[in-house]
Amino acid sequence: MRRPRRLRTQLIALVGLVALLVAVILGVLSALSLRSELLGRLDGSLVAASDRGRGADVDPGGYPDPPPGWDGGPPGLNVRGQAVGTVVVEVRDGEVVSAGYLDDDAQLRELDPAQAAAVLTAGDRPSWVHVNGLGTYRAVTVGRDDGTSVVTALPWDDSAGTLRGYVLVEVVVGVVAVLLAAAVATALVRRSLRPLDRVAQTATRVAELPLDRGAVALDERVPDGDTDPRTEVGQVGAALNRLLGHVETSLAARHASEQQVRQFVADASHELRTPLASIRGYSELVLRHGDLSEDSAHAVTRVASESRRMQALVEDLLLLARLDAGREIVEQDVDVVALAADAVSDAHAAGRGHTWRLDLAGDVDPERLRVRGDEARLRQVLVNLLANARVHTPPGTTVRLGVRRAGDVVTLIVLDDGPGVPAEQQATIFDRFSRGDAARTGGDGATRSTGLGLAIVEAIVTAHGGTITLDSEPGRTLVSVVLPASGAPDGGAGARMGP
Ligand SMILES: Nc1ncnc2c1ncn2[C@@H]1O[C@H](COP(=O)(O)OP(=O)(O)O)[C@@H](O)[C@H]1O
Ligand SMILES: [Mg+2]
Repeated sequence: MRRPRRLRTQLIALVGLVALLVAVILGVLSALSLRSELLGRLDGSLVAASDRGRGADVDPGGYPDPPPGWDGGPPGLNVRGQAVGTVVVEVRDGEVVSAGYLDDDAQLRELDPAQAAAVLTAGDRPSWVHVNGLGTYRAVTVGRDDGTSVVTALPWDDSAGTLRGYVLVEVVVGVVAVLLAAAVATALVRRSLRPLDRVAQTATRVAELPLDRGAVALDERVPDGDTDPRTEVGQVGAALNRLLGHVETSLAARHASEQQVRQFVADASHELRTPLASIRGYSELVLRHGDLSEDSAHAVTRVASESRRMQALVEDLLLLARLDAGREIVEQDVDVVALAADAVSDAHAAGRGHTWRLDLAGDVDPERLRVRGDEARLRQVLVNLLANARVHTPPGTTVRLGVRRAGDVVTLIVLDDGPGVPAEQQATIFDRFSRGDAARTGGDGATRSTGLGLAIVEAIVTAHGGTITLDSEPGRTLVSVVLPASGAPDGGAGARMGP
C-alpha cells in the first residue's frame, strides 16, 4: 500500500516542481535565444571575412610577416582585418590550392589535406563544418573573379564557450531559485496549516471526553481566530463548532431524559414502599391472629413472602436509581477489615449451613487495609456478595472473604466452592435483572432474588473508582473487587493520612 503523503509535503513539492519547471523553461528559452543571437553575429562576421577575402589580391605577400615555409598562404587569409582563428581554403578546378588559418598569435598556419577537405563541404550559405583537431566552424564558399573559389570559416568555439558559461550561471541561479521557492513555500504552508492543527487538536480533545454517560460538559470549541468563514480552515473550524454545539445540546437533552426516567423510577419505588409495607404488615397480622383455613393460610403466607420479596426489589431499585443519579459518594476513611469482619459474622448468622472464613493472609495491619469511600455502600457490596455466596450455593459450601493490599489498591475477594455461574450467564452477570434460572424460579421471599444485587455492587464499585471481576467454574467462584487504597502507597505501613 502507498503511504499517504501529507498535504504539507504535497503542497511544498508542488511549489518546488512548478518553480523547477519555470526555471527550466526560462533557462532553455533564453539559452536558445542567446545561441541564435551568437550564431547571427558569427555569421555576420563570417560574411564580412569572406567578402574581405574575395577581394584580396591573388598575389601572396600581402601578409606582413609570413612564417617560414609559409608559401604565401591563401590570399583570403592574407588580408588585414581577418580575425584570429579564421580559416581560408582556396580551390581551383576542384583542387585545393592553399589552405590555412590564423593561430592564436595571428601567425599563418597550414591545414592538412583532411582538414581542408572538411572545410570544403561548406555551401554558399553559412553552414556547419567540423575540422578535426581545430573544432567546429561556420563556413561559407564564395567565387572569385579569377575563377577560383574561396571557403572562409570562423570558429564557433568562442561563442560556444560564452553559451556554456551562460548556461552554467543559469543552472546555479535556477537551483537557488527553486530552493528559495521551496523554503518560502514551506514557511507559508506551515503558517497557513497551523490553524488546521489547532482545529484537529480541538477535535482530538473532544474525542477523549467521556461522552457516553452522565451530564457532559462539552465546552471544547475551536478558538474564534480559526473560525473565520472567509478562509477554508475557518470553514472547517466553524463547522466543527456548529457540530459540537449540536452534540452538546443533544447530549444535554439525552441526559435530561435519562434524569427524568431515573427520577420516575426513584419516585415510583419510593411511592411503592408504603403500600407494600401495609400489605406485608396486614398479611402478617392476619397470619398471626386470623382464624384461617389451611388453604387461606397458605395463600396469605404467599402474599406475605411475595410482598417481602417485592419490598427487597423496590429497595434495590431505589438504591440503583440513586446510584445512577451519580450523587456524590460520602468520602470517609473506611476500615475494610472491620467491614469484612462484620459482614462475615452477619453471613454466619444468616447462613448456618455454610462455612464462613475471613482471610487476611496474615496481613493484620489495619492501617494498610483502608480505602477512601462510603462506608454504608461498601458494606452493601460485601452484604450482596456474601448473600450471593449463601443463596446461590447449597449448604455445606465454604465461603472465604479475603482482603489484600497490593501497591495502591485494596482487593476484596469472595471465593466459594459452590456450583458456580454457568458460562453463558457470566458475560451479562453485572446487568440489571440478570439472574440464573434457579434464582428466577426457585426463590421465595427469603432468598431475595431480584437480579439487581451484582448490578448494585458494580455501580458502587465504579463510583469508588474501582473495578469488579467474576471468575467462575463449577466448584470455584471468585469475585474480586479492586478499590483504590487510602493513605500512603504500599510499604508505608502506619503512615496514615489525615487526622
Ligand atoms: N456465588 C455465586 N454462585 C453461583 N451463582 C451466583 C453467585 N453469585 C451470583 N450468581 C448468579 O448471578 C445471578 C445474579 O446475581 P445478583 O445480581 O446478585 O442477583 P440475585 O442474587 O438477586 O439473583 C444470580 O441470580 C445467580 O444466578
Ligand atoms: Mg444477589
